[in-house]
Amino acid sequence: MTTHTTFATTTRGLRRDLPAMRLFEKAKRYGVWNPSEIDFRQDRADWLRLNALEQEVLLHLTSLFQAGEEAVTGDILPLMLAVSREGRIEEEMYLTTFLFEEAKHTDFFRRFLDEVAGVREDLSRFTTPSYQAIVYEALPAAMHRLLDDPAPAAQVRAAVTYNMIVEGVLAETGYHAYLTALERNGLMPGQCQGIRLLKQDESRHIAYGIFLISRLIAADDALWEVAEATMNELLAPALGVVGDLFTAYPVMPFGLDESAFTDYAIDQFQKRLARIERARGATLEDVQRDALEG
Ligand code: MN
Ligand code: FE2
Repeated sequence: MTTHTTFATTTRGLRRDLPAMRLFEKAKRYGVWNPSEIDFRQDRADWLRLNALEQEVLLHLTSLFQAGEEAVTGDILPLMLAVSREGRIEEEMYLTTFLFEEAKHTDFFRRFLDEVAGVREDLSRFTTPSYQAIVYEALPAAMHRLLDDPAPAAQVRAAVTYNMIVEGVLAETGYHAYLTALERNGLMPGQCQGIRLLKQDESRHIAYGIFLISRLIAADDALWEVAEATMNELLAPALGVVGDLFTAYPVMPFGLDESAFTDYAIDQFQKRLARIERARGATLEDVQRDALEG
C-alpha cells in the first residue's frame, strides 16, 4: 500500500467493542509497569547466598527467558505489518502494546542478569537443540514468512507458533515453575514481583493469539488443519526444552520437579488446542463474543 484512500477513524470510527480494543484498554492500565522500578536489593543478597549449582540453574533458566523475550520482541513485527495492511486498526493498536511489553520483558531480564547475577559472559552455552529448534528456527521462520506470504494459512502458522507454543506452552510453563520455585524457597522478591507482572502481560498476548487464530478458522475451516498440524509438530521440541534442562542437572535444586514441569506443559498444550478448536463452525460474532468473555 503506497497511498491511503480512507481512514477508519474519520469514517466508521473505532470499534471499541472489538476484543482487540478491550485488550488495548487493559494493556494501557496493567501493561505500564516499569522494570526499572523493580527493587532487586534483596534479590542480590539472596543470589550471593546461593550455592554454585543453584546459581547455575537460575542462570540457565533466566538465559532461556532472556533469549526468548528478545526473540518475541524481534519477531512480532511481521505480524503487526500483516494486520496493519489488512486495515485492522484496532488490532494494530493493541499490538503496539504487545511489542512494548515484550521490550519491557527483555529489559527486565537483562536487569536481573546485570544487577542480581552480575554476569557478563556469553550465556548461549545454555541453548539446547530443542530450544534452538523452536526459538532460533521455527519462530522466526513462521513470523518472517508473513513478509512475503501474509495469507491466512501463514498467519495461523505464525500465531500458533508464537502465541500458542512459545508463549502458551514454553513461557507459561517456564514462568510458572520458576516462580513456584522462588516463592516456595522465599527467594528473590523483586524477580517474583516482575514475573507476576510479566505473566499478566503474557495472558493478554495469548488471549490475542487465541482470538486471531479463532477469527481465521471461523472464516475458513480448512485452517483448523494448519493449526492442529503446527501444534503437533512443535509439541515434541517444546517438551524437549524441559527434558534437556533436567538432563543437564541430575540433581535439581529448589525442589524443581521434571514431571511437574512436563505435566503443566502438556496441560497448557491441550487447553490451547481445545480452545482454538472451538472456532470450528463458529461465526465471527461467536468468536468475538467468546473472546470478550475470556
Ligand atoms: Mn514476554
Ligand atoms: Fe508475550
